[in-house]
Formats: sequence, C-alpha cells, structure tokens
Amino acid sequence: HGFLVDDRAPPHLPSLPVIGSLLSLRSDSPPHIFFQQLQKKYGDIYSLMMGSHKVIVINNLHHAKEVLLKKGKIFAGRPRTVTTDILTRDGKDIAFADYSATWKFHRKIVHGALCMFGEGIASIENIICQEASCMCENLTNLQCSAVDLGPELTRAVTNVVCTLCFSSSYKRGDPQFEAMLQYSQGIVDTVAKDSLVDIFPWLQHFPNEDLRMLRSCVSIRDKLLQKKYDEHKANFSENIQRDLLDALLRAKYSSENNNTSTQDVGLTDDHLLMTVGDIFGAGVETTTTVLKWAVLYLIHHPQVQRKIQEELDTNIGMDRHPQVSDRANLPYLEATIKEVLRIRPVSPLLIPHVALSDASIGEYFVQKGTRVIINLWSLHHDENEWKNPEVFNPERFLDKERKSLCYPSPSYLPFGAGVRVCLGEALAKLELFLFLSWILQRFTLEVPAGQPLPKLQGKFGVVLQPQKFQVIARFRTGWEKKVQTQESESG
Ligand code: HEM
Repeated sequence: HGFLVDDRAPPHLPSLPVIGSLLSLRSDSPPHIFFQQLQKKYGDIYSLMMGSHKVIVINNLHHAKEVLLKKGKIFAGRPRTVTTDILTRDGKDIAFADYSATWKFHRKIVHGALCMFGEGIASIENIICQEASCMCENLTNLQCSAVDLGPELTRAVTNVVCTLCFSSSYKRGDPQFEAMLQYSQGIVDTVAKDSLVDIFPWLQHFPNEDLRMLRSCVSIRDKLLQKKYDEHKANFSENIQRDLLDALLRAKYSSENNNTSTQDVGLTDDHLLMTVGDIFGAGVETTTTVLKWAVLYLIHHPQVQRKIQEELDTNIGMDRHPQVSDRANLPYLEATIKEVLRIRPVSPLLIPHVALSDASIGEYFVQKGTRVIINLWSLHHDENEWKNPEVFNPERFLDKERKSLCYPSPSYLPFGAGVRVCLGEALAKLELFLFLSWILQRFTLEVPAGQPLPKLQGKFGVVLQPQKFQVIARFRTGWEKKVQTQESESG
C-alpha cells in the first residue's frame, strides 16, 4: 500500500512522490460523491496523499464522532493554505485559524455577542423579520414575473449579518451592496481552491489569475471592514454595545486597560477585522445557499409546500406574521428544513481538520499533522441509516402522527459537532425558519410556465450550490387583496 509502512495505517490510495494520489483521484463526479464511491474499494475510512500532505477521509458516523467529539481537541487543527492565508491575514480569524488560545478567545467573544442581542433571541428575531418583510415586499412587486431569487435572498441574509456586525443594512440597488456582492462572489470562487487543487484534479487550474482576483476582492472587502472599524472606534462608548464590532472593541480596550499585550491575546486590529470578516464569510453564503436549496426542493415538491402552508394557515393565519414562538407549532416546516440540510449539506466535507498530535481513529494510527476530511455527504446518504437517502422526504423527520419531530438516524451533522461546531447554528436555523415561513405564508413558489424543473445536482466549491434558476412567487388566495387594502390604508 503505497509508501505507508505502519501496519495500523488505514487503507491507502496508491500515491507517488510530489503528486501524491492525484492519478487515483480522476473522476467526473464532485469530490464528496467520489469519496463516497471510493468506500466500495477502500472501506469507510482510507487515506491518500494530497501532494505532500497525508489526508484521511472518513465516511461514517462512528469515526466522525470519534474525530469531532471524543477526540475533538486533538483533531481541532486547521490546515494552512495560500488562499486562506490571504483571506484571513495568516489565520487571524476563527474558521481557518489553527487551534490556539486566540482562536478560543475569539469564538467566545463572538458567541457572547450573538447571545447578547436582547435576551439572545428577541431582537435577532426583529432584525430577521424586518428583512423578511422587505423581501416579501420586493416579491410583491415582482408578482407574476420569473425571477432568480438568489439576489433577494442574498441581500436579506447579508443585511441580517450586517446589522449584527455593524448595525447597518442595505437597500435594493445600493452601490456599496452591489460592490459587496461582487467581491464576495470573487472570494467564493477562489478561496480554498488551492488546497482543493492538491486533492482534486477536477480543479487543477489554479492560475495566478485566481490569486490576483482573490487579492483584489479581499482588498475591497478589507477597505469596507476598515471603514466600519474606524467609525466604530470613533463612536465607541463603554456603556452601549450596539453590535459584534462593539463587543470586540470592548474586549480589546479592556485587555489594554489591564496592560495585556493585544498581540498576546490576539486582539490586534488585524484579528478583530478578520473575525468580523469571517462572520460574513461563514454566515452569508451558507445560509443563502440553504435557502436556495429549500426553494428548489419546494418547487419540485408542491405537495410539501401545500402541507407547510396548511400548517401556517392553521397556526398563524393571515392576520399576523410568523414569529420564533411559532416554531414548535410548525413541525412540517421544521422537518422540511432538516431534510434540505440532510439531502444537500452546503458544506459536504466540513472544513478540513488537522491532528494536533499523534493519535488514532478506530483501530488506525494517525500521525500528527494529518488532515482529516469528514465526508458529511456519506453520513447523510448512508443507506444503512436512511431509507432511500436520495429521496426528498421531510416526513422522515416526523413521528407517526406527524405532530412532532423525530430523528430517524444520528448520522446527521449539518453543522458539524464538537469544539469546531458551527458558531452560527442557532442564528442560521432562525433565519431559515423565519424567511421560509414568511415567504410561504404569502406566496406559492412555482416553476415559470414552459420551463423545465431545475436540476437537483449541486456545483461543488466552497459550498455546494444549486445551479441558477428562476421561480414565480404567486400570491396565495386572499393575500393580493390584503396587500392592496394595506397599501390603500397607508395612503
Ligand atoms: C463552521 C455549517 C451558518 C459561522 C461551520 C462548519 C459547518 C457549518 C459544517 C464546519 C464545522 C467543522 O469544520 O467541523 C453551517 C451551515 C450554515 C451555517 C449549514 C447555514 C445554514 C453560519 C452562520 C455563521 C456561521 C450564520 C455566523 C454567524 C461559522 C464559523 C465557523 C463555522 C465562525 C468556524 C468555526 C470554527 O472553525 O471554530 N459551519 N454554517 N455559520 N460556521 Fe457555520
């Protein structure tokens, strides 16, 4: 088996010096699916060489839990790559930072800041509802025309994150917002491609053009972040904490007052900026993509939409909008969200983990520095755990009476688990619930007449994205009249 001599090493793909296992990794399938296919030949856990790096790929829950939970701290490292170093000023963020006191501290501050918004949930709810209301207004104006909901969803989600981070948001067509969309896309298209290029010949082109593009997008992002940072510094007050940036500044000033070096605790200007940048990076593309997948599956499954709408009609009706407190009464919608996160996990390979010391996974020895890829796709499509895993069926998450949620299998980790678990899980779930319930209360989503149903295959990149598609958001019975009445009342 290649160059591994240790008997206890996992099955190994053939590899050559320099190029590693490239020759064995040629496939037309995207990596998460190819890794799933390789199980047939090599088993649930196997290793390969990514250039000069050892990589272990895990395809079952048992070993995933060992890495993420039981030995979470040992496997809490992150690999450094050229692109993530450009994006994060050499790992001064959270998601791509290696395990360290600084990383821990930043996680704690962000976690605290996300909980801080009025008893945790209350005012985050207001922020999201404000955006949901705006989005529904835009959809009202677009009645009966075929639209790509992508930009609408992106703006809504971006505004939630902007409000949380900076207390600011954007209107439709705002040039600063458009600029932000553009640089985000540039970052999404290029970041992390370098490490992926090593593993996946699918992506073998990594010309310097990509690096140039990444640098230029990051520099536009950084100017915007810097501007917000300077404004916040100028208006900082000990007594008021408006947003995440205030929370970070407060931590910085308090450590300075205690005469602690900000370099030592990781509270330099660079660290603060990169952490805020990270929340954008991790919070916008992911949530928006899940919303797009949800819309896509809903137009494929009108009967699911109808059931959610019946649930909304029974529990909420037309006289008020959906709220967080409705969540427990809308199990069909909750089950649908769970099923979307299962069938199309936006981050099918999580973010790579790294062994911080020599360790073991199952019966196998793992050398310090080995990268570990958890193939969430395999967990979510495991035929031993899920009946017909390729079939979209929200009811698998409901009990017999379809009144409450249930978990048919533990082989389900859309947000990861353990010390590196997603920091925005609660926020993301709240956004998914509120945006979808607002939309489906008012509109039915349909494929434009004469157009084929968009494909369900994803495009693999930093996140697993659906292809672009158009929908019509048609008013449900009674809503058109209601909106007209509201408009004439408000003059
Ligand atoms: C990490 C999923 C939304 C912040 C992650 C990871 C996954 C994930 C799978 C990697 C876990 C690992 O490496 O083991 C998702 C999904 C989302 C979502 C499916 C939307 C539905 C958000 C939001 C935020 C956020 C809204 C910000 C408020 C983060 C951060 C990390 C992370 C900071 C890095 C944590 C660390 O490395 O310590 N997320 N996420 N995510 N997520 Fe999310």
